Amino acid sequence: MSSDARELRLEAQRRRTFAIISHPDAGKSTMTEALALHAHVISEAGAIHGKAGRKSTVSDWMEMEKARGISVSSTALQFNYALEGTDGPGAVINLVDTPGHADFSEDTYRVLTAVDAAVMLIDAAKGLEPQTLKLFQVCRHRGIPVITVINKWDRPGRTPLELIDEISERIGLIPTPLFLPVGIAGDFRGLLDRRTGEYIHFTRTAGGAKIAPEELLDADAALDREGDAWIAAVEESELLSEMGQDHDEELFLAGQTSPMIFASAMLNFGVRQLLDALVALAPAPSGRTGIDGTVREVTDPFSAVVFKVQAGMDSSHRDRLAFMRIVSGEFERGMVVTHAQTGKPFATKYAHTVVGRDRSTVDTAYPGDVVGLVNATALAPGDTLYDGPRVQYPPIPSFAPEHFSTLRVTTADKYKQFRKAMDQLDSEGVVQVLRNDTRGDASPVLAAVGPMQFEVVTARMKTEFNVDTVIEPLGYSLARRTDADSAAELNRQRGVEVFTRTDGAMLALFSDKWRLQYIEKEHGDLTLEPLVATAD
Ligand code: G4P
Repeated sequence: MSSDARELRLEAQRRRTFAIISHPDAGKSTMTEALALHAHVISEAGAIHGKAGRKSTVSDWMEMEKARGISVSSTALQFNYALEGTDGPGAVINLVDTPGHADFSEDTYRVLTAVDAAVMLIDAAKGLEPQTLKLFQVCRHRGIPVITVINKWDRPGRTPLELIDEISERIGLIPTPLFLPVGIAGDFRGLLDRRTGEYIHFTRTAGGAKIAPEELLDADAALDREGDAWIAAVEESELLSEMGQDHDEELFLAGQTSPMIFASAMLNFGVRQLLDALVALAPAPSGRTGIDGTVREVTDPFSAVVFKVQAGMDSSHRDRLAFMRIVSGEFERGMVVTHAQTGKPFATKYAHTVVGRDRSTVDTAYPGDVVGLVNATALAPGDTLYDGPRVQYPPIPSFAPEHFSTLRVTTADKYKQFRKAMDQLDSEGVVQVLRNDTRGDASPVLAAVGPMQFEVVTARMKTEFNVDTVIEPLGYSLARRTDADSAAELNRQRGVEVFTRTDGAMLALFSDKWRLQYIEKEHGDLTLEPLVATAD
């Protein structure tokens, strides 16, 4: 192996690129900040999560950037983290943000195509919640290993075994706790390290602003100190071992089990343990298979996948920022790469490495890193960029839409702009656009994973293209993939309409699940396949 390849392999191996999946309010922002505190990116937590300044219109991360002067973007936070007692350069952690709370849209799903692992953050009192479930399904489809964190253990909640059972039963993912809490929810004293049998006792700091001091005790000392709370944790641990719920790296990487940690992001308990688990257990970036079946290894020439396009950041320009995740090779700012979809060169002169400790000085990036490209008008989510031998990665899947509306122009004489805007928003993947001959092009049907996507469309129509539009909900609530052979029969049915999506897929929309069930029963030969969150 050449020294360049060796360096690339080392850089890739020390990277961990992950996202936090959670339901709103489970503590994602607080945990992000706690992770940054433990990696010494910030020296004190609470600026964002103090009482002031929250719920502002900018994302929490942008607030963090402003408050701390660290290089965070709305998309990724990168920091170095060294395991305690180890030498060497340590790990590079890329925490990729999943978009804001209310806007639970396709964007969130796409982010998950850019990560190698996910942290599923669960509120100890609430257990599994709907958004966590949906995001988990995407992780499962994509084979992304999941580490589970039970957060807010400092507050009354359920018992560890209840939470473990709920996760196993409802989603079939078997938790294998690495640590169990000592003290019930609401009385969080420390963690039993199941692998060493030792006790990590935490001490609270004022307002949870600093890293909580840890004290390591052996089992005897732990028993002396915590009595019944220690005994309960040990018994739970033994029970789990009897049930085979000990960490197994292979099963974790195969998506069957999930290492679990109990934590309080607010008090900074269990946060170091999470970072250590990410570094020790989560997978490093690895090669990816192109559509021609060949694998591009991390040590091969540069390649990357665009996973998110953000437009209108600067309202005076029709500015478009594309975020790519590097798959292979070294990226250097300024290099001219090829856009696989068009075969055209793409200059990265104005590319900025949005992630990194110092935005102005970081100009190389490695597999696993996220880089923002400005003026990226030609790029769409799922596109490939490469240098050297050609590669094109499979497209990012379209996710099953659940909301359907028509979009109608209300400004007279704006039809041309409207069409142009529609094409642009469609190519960015802001919504899915559906058409059929009956309806024509004047008021296309928009399909979305989350209703906020519609608001984004009308807002951008107005601000960027000066076109007033209104959204009118359609009476459909679910979609199935179909084909031309089935379309005619389906169109004859009441409560059903067939459309073609821009990517060519034919979708049949149904008023409700009963309608679908009835038609499936009456016409068993029709093609009606669920749209799943996998590349198809
Ligand atoms: P999110 O990004 O997932 O939506 O959650 P976020 O971090 O904003 O946290 C939601 C609420 O939960 C916040 O309270 C936050 O302080 C609290 N929280 C997060 N982690 C913990 C934890 O480990 N323990 C406890 N007890 N609370 C936690 P809030 O009342 O909405 O805001 P604030 O008044 O605390 O700022």
